[in-house]
Amino acid sequence: MFNLKVCVIGGAGYIGSHAVYELIRDGHEVVVIDNLSTGLREMVHKDAKFYLGDITKKGELSSIFKKECEKKPFDVVMHFAAKLIVPESLDQPLEYYHNNVEGVRIMLEVMTEFNIKNVVFSSTAAVYGEPVKNICEEEDPTIPVNPYGETKLASEKLIKWVCKKYNMNYCIFRYFNVAGADETLEIGLKKDNLTHLIPVAIQAALGLREKMIIFGDDYDTRDGSCIRDYIHVSDLAYAHVLGAKYIYENNKSLLVNLGSNKGFTVKEVVKEVEKYIKVPYEIGPRRPGDPAQIVASNKKAKEILGWEPKRGLSDMIKSDMEFRKKNS
Ligand code: UFG
Repeated sequence: MFNLKVCVIGGAGYIGSHAVYELIRDGHEVVVIDNLSTGLREMVHKDAKFYLGDITKKGELSSIFKKECEKKPFDVVMHFAAKLIVPESLDQPLEYYHNNVEGVRIMLEVMTEFNIKNVVFSSTAAVYGEPVKNICEEEDPTIPVNPYGETKLASEKLIKWVCKKYNMNYCIFRYFNVAGADETLEIGLKKDNLTHLIPVAIQAALGLREKMIIFGDDYDTRDGSCIRDYIHVSDLAYAHVLGAKYIYENNKSLLVNLGSNKGFTVKEVVKEVEKYIKVPYEIGPRRPGDPAQIVASNKKAKEILGWEPKRGLSDMIKSDMEFRKKNS
């Protein structure tokens, strides 16, 4: 058992805040940096140190690193501070490149200046674009179909080159569809204008929105609606603890998918919510840019990190529902 000092950039956001909880549960020291553009101060674990700061502003990041690293340097830096809405990225490509790619570039520059050797980076299944196989593997072609996926792929490449030059280690995780809330219900997905399927279906079920729309039921899938790979946010967050320890201990880099090997259709997800409460829904047209199916192979994560999801779709739905009831 060893304790790391971990800097979590974007630790007030949905996935970042869950990673902070898992790091603290595993006994690590956590420093959070977040500009609170979408994150919430109340989502930061009380045992983590918090700095308000924006990684696209080098001066802000450097001064926080200076203060912290004088005492004890960070062992690992984790990056969650990205903009991540696909339709928004089509509308705001300049903002997405600035925040997502320039933010990573500045973070890496500051890391090299302070000689910090390990970086854990949140990437996405969106780097695969239209998957060429039913189950995505890490070696599959990466041809993003939107600016969001492009910025994540550009960041991945930048990280790899910088790590090669400065003898650093990276752990890049490609996420699939993330849902659910921490078992304490202290943190969860909380923001205006939610767009993701599970919280939208639950909002409709709880009467927090009039109804939901199923975007297309004429895809070439078992019931005509899109198939996605859903992962509980706490399983995903715990993978970050394993990834950080792995690169630190082994002085090695890795890139892995965090998925479940299993896909559910949109209609199956709605049915699962309906085991608890009826969901008012309508079938609508397809949403632009939606591939019919994205499912991840988690073979590599299992082999290298011993990671596999412990929770299933019903756990994601139950915890998100409880969190939403508590916070509405
Ligand atoms: N969906 C609906 N109705 C809704 C919302 C979603 O039918 O109101 C459908 C979508 O069309 C899609 C599925 O539910 O088929 C999942 O959609 P989400 O918006 O929940 O998630 P996405 O699959 O579009 O995107 C997620 C992440 C991205 C990531 C991508 C990679 O949000 O950041 O997975 O697979 F890039």
